[in-house]
Amino acid sequence: MVKHVGSPVEPVPTPAVDRPPRDHPGLVALARATLEANWAQAHTVPSRTLYPHQWSWDSAFIAIGWAHLRPERTWSELTSLFEAQWRDGRVPHIVFNPAVSDEAYFPGPRFWGSTLIEGAPARATSGLVQPPVHALAAWHAYRRAPSERGRAALGWLYPRLVAQQHYLSSRRDLGGAGLASIVHPWESGLDNSPAWDEPLAAVPTEEAVPGAYRRRDIVHAAAAHRPTDLDYARYVALVTAYRAGGYRDEDLADRHPFLVECPLFNAAMGAAESALAQIAREIGADPGPHHRRAARITTALVDRLYDPRTGTFHPRDLRTGRLTPARTVLGLTPVILPDLPAEQVEAILAEAGSSRFGLAARMARPLPSHDRTAADFEPLRYWRGPSWMNITWLVRYGLLTHGHPRLADGLATSMIEAVATAGCHEYFHPETGAGLGSPAFSWTAALLLDLLAETKGRALG
Ligand code: SER
Repeated sequence: MVKHVGSPVEPVPTPAVDRPPRDHPGLVALARATLEANWAQAHTVPSRTLYPHQWSWDSAFIAIGWAHLRPERTWSELTSLFEAQWRDGRVPHIVFNPAVSDEAYFPGPRFWGSTLIEGAPARATSGLVQPPVHALAAWHAYRRAPSERGRAALGWLYPRLVAQQHYLSSRRDLGGAGLASIVHPWESGLDNSPAWDEPLAAVPTEEAVPGAYRRRDIVHAAAAHRPTDLDYARYVALVTAYRAGGYRDEDLADRHPFLVECPLFNAAMGAAESALAQIAREIGADPGPHHRRAARITTALVDRLYDPRTGTFHPRDLRTGRLTPARTVLGLTPVILPDLPAEQVEAILAEAGSSRFGLAARMARPLPSHDRTAADFEPLRYWRGPSWMNITWLVRYGLLTHGHPRLADGLATSMIEAVATAGCHEYFHPETGAGLGSPAFSWTAALLLDLLAETKGRALG
């Protein structure tokens, strides 16, 4: 069943599945302990070791988890993030905790130098953004735990979420076709996805002096599970280039070496408009403009990023004008758009159900982040193969939106099983389910609570 274009769509409730019952009380306790241990005054760190500050899209997913435990923290999480919003509307991808040393994370506040920038907040931040999943998360969390406090928080967030959308759809529309461009792989959230190999290869690294910086990530996680040093040289070169222009976007099209339209980023931007329409209705504002913008973004996404020859979505490299060839999990994520036409929904179902991704009502293995059959599939390395909770949650949300509860359940079950076996890891080996990266990762815990709540009373296993 596919929803009609333009209809405000809520995910439909999932029916029971016929599997032996299995309780997960220990999992709820584990998720709670993980989130409580990562709580830091007004926000939650993604990980005490690897990511000791506040991250933008992490906070959105984490806010959903707090709705199941302590709803007031949902609003604290999102408020503290949006208090660091720049005057131009950008929501920075990292908000630094001044109580944490500059050395704890690379690149730290000194490297970004945000406090020297006109229009940036007093609190040090990065200058990049991340997928705008915040409106969707705020609305989802509110529906999980509606309250007066929540409605007041939605009222405070609403103009800020609108400003975030405005920044992305105006200053970041570098291709001029109604989509936002990312200027760094970190903005995609899928840092070292094979999707970025081609555009990144064009980024010069000669300015990256060996020894000029020290990676902190590989102190806390195995180097084989993280991006490579060459990736980091390019990441640093791209930040350096953006920072040199004062993080201005006006003339990026003429001078920046990495400009890409990402399917997930733009699907999130479209889904944000649909969520903003719901929020607007709840707080007495006009939902109409949000519905119209959602429809425009969906149309642009299909026109620009869907390839009928491959039957999936790909990022578009604005430097070459071409779609990048890798078939990654990014290609499935436009399913979160309620207005996505039936043809593309069917194509996503076919791609997801192929041996590349293995989506099924009964999945032996969790959803990988990259095509399992590709020569460059790497089951241990960050976004080049491993399974992630947040992508699982998003794709599941999209499957429910478009009326596929059994597939949505298969996806949820495969991920719950991975966490039940390995713990609240940052990511998971897509073949064995072994835990990778941080062993106490906040969004895994948060979204696990959401999946468990939705599947409660029904059988899993
Ligand atoms: N994901 C990046 C990191 O690994 C930062 O956003 O540090």
